[in-house]
Amino acid sequence: MKPRVVSGMRPTGKLHIGHLVGALHQWADLQSTYDCMYFVADWHALTSEYADTDGLTSYAYDNVADWIAAGVDPEQSTLFVQSLVPEHAELYLLLSMVVPIPWLERVPTYKEQIAQLVEKDLSTLGFLGYPLLQGADVVIYKAQYVPVGEDQVAHLELNREVIRRFHGFYGELFPEPQPLLSHFPRLPGLDNRKMSKSYGNTIALSDDAESVKKKVMRMFTDPKRIRADIPGTVEGNPVFVYHDAFNPDVAEVDDLKTRYRAGTVGDVEVKQKLVRAINTMLDPIRERRAEVLAQPTRVREILMDGSSRARTIARETMTQVREAVGLNYT
Ligand code: TRP
Repeated sequence: MKPRVVSGMRPTGKLHIGHLVGALHQWADLQSTYDCMYFVADWHALTSEYADTDGLTSYAYDNVADWIAAGVDPEQSTLFVQSLVPEHAELYLLLSMVVPIPWLERVPTYKEQIAQLVEKDLSTLGFLGYPLLQGADVVIYKAQYVPVGEDQVAHLELNREVIRRFHGFYGELFPEPQPLLSHFPRLPGLDNRKMSKSYGNTIALSDDAESVKKKVMRMFTDPKRIRADIPGTVEGNPVFVYHDAFNPDVAEVDDLKTRYRAGTVGDVEVKQKLVRAINTMLDPIRERRAEVLAQPTRVREILMDGSSRARTIARETMTQVREAVGLNYT
């Protein structure tokens, strides 16, 4: 039996090329070695988006179409929706009995997000419980590994502490899940700020070739380079970060870097080559996405099927958990 991997993504918008290097490539690669379960974290989306739920289900379908287009294989992996497996919520409730509130309050993302997302009222129980729900998502499938970004490591750490405490009361039930970090550093946005759909600085996986061109040609680059003959900085320059991420022609990238540093290449050439590289990478994704969406009920069926498979496992776990906790009415 292959070791199990669980990971989720919140359906809060269209997916972009940051999701590709930050998660989807890794999700696709893990499939041959692990028993992978990937899910739409719709309850997690609600923890911050509870006031506007209009896009939730359509983003869920759209995102999963992108997962598949990016190489996540519904035949090999289980793709499902968190809220269609309500056992996650039951386990979350039982875990909540043993979690001291200060453990949740001291998770770094908690205070950061509250400070950042000032337009949202995040002083809710649901938002405080975010990492605990994440823990339930993972251990309900007894997963050993969780592919996540750097920012999620603290959630997993909390998760392991909660599990230990839970085990202390009720006996060993779950493996302590370990993170599988994706190796690629976070991509900057087109404007060199943090990549985020709210800044409008992303390239969506569903963008056509022409929009990619427009966006790349307007990309932030070395601001001190007002003429092509001024030597430029490559390190941390988002145009070159993207070249490193998406241009497989290493010789071309090296040549551009050398000439950029020497002040012998124009930004236009560097960007045109980047446009070509990104479009070449996105072309097969666009094609598969169109194939998937050509069958309007396909994604829904995949998720229904996956959710029922996931639920079978989750139910078994909950039977054991209820018994361990002392909720025994059979
Ligand atoms: N918090 C994760 C994120 O924002 C999404 C998520 C929810 C998740 N539940 C999970 C990831 C369980 C891994 C495992 O990216």
